[in-house]
Amino acid sequence: MTATFSETIQTGYSFKGDSIKLGLAMLDGKIVENAEVRLPLKTLNRHGLIAGATGTGKTKTLQLIAEALSDASVPVLMMDIKGDLSGIAAAGTDNSKIQERYAVLKETFKPAAFPVELLSLSEEKGARLRATISEFGPVLLSKVLELNETQEGLLAILFKYCDDNALPLLDLKDLSKMLQYAGNEGKAEIEKEYGKISTSSAGTILRKVIELQQQDADLFFGETSFDINDLMRIDDNGRGVINILRITDMQTRPKLFSTFMLQMLAELYTTLPEEGDLDRPKLVLFIDEAHLIFNEANKALLDQIETIVKLIRSKGIGIFFCTQNPMDVPPPVLSQLGLKVQHALRAFTANDRKSIKQTAQNYPESTFYKTEDLLTQLGIGEALITLLNEKGIPTPLAHTYMIAPRSRMDILSEVEINDLISRSKLIPKYNRIVDRESAYELLNKKLNAASAQNANQTGSPHATASAAKPKAEKSWLETAMNSSAGKQVQRSIVRTLFGVISKMLK
Ligand SMILES: Nc1ncnc2c1ncn2[C@@H]1O[C@H](COP(=O)(O)OP(=O)(O)OP(=O)(O)O)[C@@H](O)[C@H]1O
Ligand SMILES: [Mg+2]
Repeated sequence: MTATFSETIQTGYSFKGDSIKLGLAMLDGKIVENAEVRLPLKTLNRHGLIAGATGTGKTKTLQLIAEALSDASVPVLMMDIKGDLSGIAAAGTDNSKIQERYAVLKETFKPAAFPVELLSLSEEKGARLRATISEFGPVLLSKVLELNETQEGLLAILFKYCDDNALPLLDLKDLSKMLQYAGNEGKAEIEKEYGKISTSSAGTILRKVIELQQQDADLFFGETSFDINDLMRIDDNGRGVINILRITDMQTRPKLFSTFMLQMLAELYTTLPEEGDLDRPKLVLFIDEAHLIFNEANKALLDQIETIVKLIRSKGIGIFFCTQNPMDVPPPVLSQLGLKVQHALRAFTANDRKSIKQTAQNYPESTFYKTEDLLTQLGIGEALITLLNEKGIPTPLAHTYMIAPRSRMDILSEVEINDLISRSKLIPKYNRIVDRESAYELLNKKLNAASAQNANQTGSPHATASAAKPKAEKSWLETAMNSSAGKQVQRSIVRTLFGVISKMLK
């Protein structure tokens, strides 16, 4: 039996291209020598799931895979929601447990620190990730704000109006000002060229923008907008940079988090070229505590995530979702995940037992294991694994004793974090505060000019705000296309198209 098992695993987990060793397979609770469970780099763009009850080893698995990817020159982006990933930047330390694990696996523990860049969406230490409202585009923004069709139509008109009138929409302040203007002083002027404006729709959108601001979305919208290529850096030693996005404060701002996720996925999709099948991915994303996105996302956002997860594969991007219960991931997304690393599940309630049964059914049948029973018996740092081989066929289910990470299995100290920050190449680029003249300031100027004109021409009852329309020599679109901001505009156009395509795909 062991010989057949060993052969099944060896055949199932041998790949032509490069692969990462995850551990050794186990049968009847015992480690089987030479039964290596490996992960081929080529199929990492088929995405993955790392699931399991609390404390069973999900984060360590994520750390192990991220380390191996960095070694293989693949950059990584990790969402650090619990704040327990920074240790990747420091070498691990030996202890008896690690020694024991490595001895069993017949490997030598070689501690290593990895190149890490800390990123942030808020005031946490790290290079700031931001995006402008115009980059977001009306389609994506409507999804985030949960707008109906009429409201979405209005938003599209306002984006167009801003394009035509040299009014850059950079942050939420610009958007709010534009909405106020459209519902009041600017209504007549806009209606003349763009058709009817519903004041109540403008009011509703404005209320939703305020809701978003209550989750501190102001921190995210604006300049300097993040260039996605900065996530794909290789260090001087040829190792992929591990970007750690520190978002411990996102648990209380789920809407901001899902907004950011969606924007980033769309950005990756629109910016990167079509790649076909690469030998290794260009970037791998790990989303720890992924239930946070799925629990809070509305239907439109979920549909969008599903579409992007499907399409982004061809751009050479792999996404790994990490969550306690695999049922946290909506079925359409779950069905897109090629790699599954399932750590132990706990059966406390009837509901737990139901979900364990369902989980077991989602795995390939195995003659070696009783999957449903095994799911609750797995030890810490052990997992049930199946993935797609290079032909796209699921590998045999393998109860795996996982290798321990080589970097620190704990966090960095404040001093170590400060040191990392001081060496950052991205912080000087992204952490300057920029608030250049945009829609907010320009509309205020326009209104002031109009009221001054009104005061001067008290005899003329026909003076309107439009009389003060700034004279753009070229349209904003023309100027912007030829300027450094041109890239942003082009992206937002592509994004709008992308929204249309994703609608058609549904
Ligand atoms: N591959 C491994 N090698 C060595 N030790 C491990 C391994 N996996 C897990 N452990 C041990 O188990 C502990 C918990 O693991 P981990 O933090 O990865 O759990 P988790 O599933 O992410 O939990 P949570 O849901 O609470 O985040 C670790 O601190 C470590 O001591
Ligand atoms: Mg964890």
